[in-house]
Amino acid sequence: MTDTYAADRAEPSLTVTSDGPGGCPVLHGFEPFEPAQVKDPSAVMAFARREAPVFFHPGLGAYIVSRHADVARVFVDQKTFTQLPFINRPVPEELRELLPDGFVTDAIAPFQDPARHPRVRKLAQVPFIRQNALAAADLVRRVADETIAEFRASGEADLIPAYARRIPMRLMLSILGIDVAHEDDLHRWVAGCMRVFGDPTMTDAEVVELGRDQAEFGRFTLSIIDERRRNPRGEGDFLTDLVNATADGEKGLSDFEVFGVVLLSLIAGGDTTANLIAQLIMRMLDDDGALWRVADADRDVIDTMIEEELRYNNVGRMTLRKVLTDTELDGVAIPAGSMVAMHVWSTGRDESVWQDPDQFDPRRADANKHLAFGKGRHSCMGAMLARVEARQSIEAVLDQLPNARLVPGHEVQRAWGIAVQSVLSGLVVAWDVCAGTTA
Ligand code: HEM
Repeated sequence: MTDTYAADRAEPSLTVTSDGPGGCPVLHGFEPFEPAQVKDPSAVMAFARREAPVFFHPGLGAYIVSRHADVARVFVDQKTFTQLPFINRPVPEELRELLPDGFVTDAIAPFQDPARHPRVRKLAQVPFIRQNALAAADLVRRVADETIAEFRASGEADLIPAYARRIPMRLMLSILGIDVAHEDDLHRWVAGCMRVFGDPTMTDAEVVELGRDQAEFGRFTLSIIDERRRNPRGEGDFLTDLVNATADGEKGLSDFEVFGVVLLSLIAGGDTTANLIAQLIMRMLDDDGALWRVADADRDVIDTMIEEELRYNNVGRMTLRKVLTDTELDGVAIPAGSMVAMHVWSTGRDESVWQDPDQFDPRRADANKHLAFGKGRHSCMGAMLARVEARQSIEAVLDQLPNARLVPGHEVQRAWGIAVQSVLSGLVVAWDVCAGTTA
């Protein structure tokens, strides 16, 4: 496997000029889609934080904000900075009957709309608050053990597709009470939703095909929501709590809004948590398994390692906001209507917050000052769940794959989006298959 972050920092040649809008800084050499910078943006972002903490990137048409304090301000100052609505395409004529309310991704719109967000958030967070951390830990552990049982006897597997990418979806299916037999359908439907949001290259025929699939997704999920309304399962059951959620006399969530919360959770909690689990296993096994042994000897250190991973190599990269009124950040004037990209990854390496930020310290006491889960009104509702998922998934691997080691010669494959950098494959691991081990 070749994937050591700190070891081969990209050292591009970087210069700052003042030829952005209104004479603001432009950082030449910041190329967020360039493979070396996708893999390791540490050098370029250290330069940015020092020399041009807020700069304009003509390619993205956005102001990039790199320091912890500035990004924290953008997250919480909702009067000046607002979430960008997801771009939904018009429904093609031949799908109008099938999708009368638009693509199912429209169900997420209330979360992007400042007027509607406070109500849906207040109601949607009821089941997240009611989730019991201990019960969630048991559930994740069961899902993790069952997943490992599928490949343990083979003695070798790529733990990204076989394990890390399976856990979040299987956990959500369990939480929602959906049979695991629908796992592949859900993966396909969620991937389709991501394409609706973000793939402008789709042909008309692809849009129609995807629309048909989305209609099936809508029917499937709405029938489960309807069933739960008719047969509630009691407090603590995620969907029951969601369909029955009340707050300060607010009108409860409609079926389509419940669907939006489910869809948002699948999107926001899938790739992110899968990457966290994969990245941490990768890091533990690197360097001849040094951190693997640390974690095995002291299981409580895993919680700190999870926070440190979120700080050191946050799975999220940039998060976008639209500027509502003329403002200023670090002396750079930003006019209303502009787009701001918070470089959340960069904030985890801010030297004004952490000592030796480019060192991964498995026992760093204040790693949790990171902004990986955002801050303010839109902060991650699934943070507790993500932490429990990562901890239990790592413990399951430690317990069940004795003497785990990386199989050399594999390269980690990545998919790069502006928001999240995903690992897809290449974490090939071998372990001892003990006599008496059952698969
Ligand atoms: C390592 C894993 C995760 C990371 C790094 C992460 C990160 C984030 C971030 C940064 C935001 C705020 C986005 C913004 O302000 O624009 C967010 C929002 C959200 N996350 Fe997570 N997330 C993770 C896992 C999860 C999980 C497991 C779930 C649910 C099962 C979840 C559900 C949500 C929801 C519903 C929101 C929207 C909140 C709102 O807009 O009010 N996330 N997440």
